[in-house]
Amino acid sequence: MELDYSKPPVEVRNLRSAFGSNVVHENLDFSVNGREILGLVGGSGSGKTVLMNTLLGLKEPDGGNVYYFGHDRRDMSFKDRQTLNNQMGVLFQGGALFSSMTVRENIMVPLREHTNLNPALMRELADMKVHMVGLPAHAATLYPADLSGGMRKRAGLARALALDPKLLFLDEPTAGLDPIGASEFDQLILDLREAMGLTILMITHDLDTLFTICDRVSVLVDKHIAITDSLPNVMAFQHPWVQEYFGGPRARAAVEAGNGAGAF
Ligand SMILES: Nc1ncnc2c1ncn2[C@@H]1O[C@H](COP(=O)(O)OP(=O)(O)O)[C@@H](O)[C@H]1O
Ligand SMILES: [Mg+2]
Repeated sequence: MELDYSKPPVEVRNLRSAFGSNVVHENLDFSVNGREILGLVGGSGSGKTVLMNTLLGLKEPDGGNVYYFGHDRRDMSFKDRQTLNNQMGVLFQGGALFSSMTVRENIMVPLREHTNLNPALMRELADMKVHMVGLPAHAATLYPADLSGGMRKRAGLARALALDPKLLFLDEPTAGLDPIGASEFDQLILDLREAMGLTILMITHDLDTLFTICDRVSVLVDKHIAITDSLPNVMAFQHPWVQEYFGGPRARAAVEAGNGAGAF
């Protein structure tokens, strides 16, 4: 398979997703550009996680196409699909780590599954990821229950990065973190994008995150992506949900805190 790097890493055309009679996406078009951090917002139950699962290949589209660097997953050979899957890292909502495994063992799970590296090398790679996500070295030997919420997110991120993916999907990564922990996590995402050349799709409700690290923002409403643009343009978009979301007191506070500096 020849990947066409002039094409977006992810491009969705005319997607339809449904569970029985519950239509979640209809005529949904969407694309993520190389090396951008794209924020995805939308009301609770609007279909953000279903969209992410579809991009990950965990859910089949019920209509339309999903292209990766110009290729539809369904036209790929089994081997190409596996290669593609290894190019995608994900931190699920809640970031579930295996509770019976140490952080190091958690990070080694994808390495065991997808590489033939010897155990010593796998341990070394896992410990390198621990370092990359800003955890202290001894965190590698701790169990998830021994970690703070912020450390657990970082450990989940380390596991998502185990195979050095090109695409990173994050579902509400800063949910449940205090504001300091959340902004430290945002900074880490920026640093990792630079260091690893990542393309990142991030589902988030965190207005500070949208203001500080997202290059563009997509809005999922009325079963489709209503707009993908810079944050100022999204905020000016005339749609009742958008106006309510970005016109509220929390959005104003985020603007006034000067966090808009990068975006405006
Ligand atoms: N596995 C599933 N089976 C049936 N319905 C589902 C499933 N996953 C999600 N849904 C439905 O899809 C819609 C969108 O869900 P979701 O993508 O989780 O929303 P959110 O935007 O909050 O992430 C909801 O109506 C939800 O009930
Ligand atoms: Mg969700």
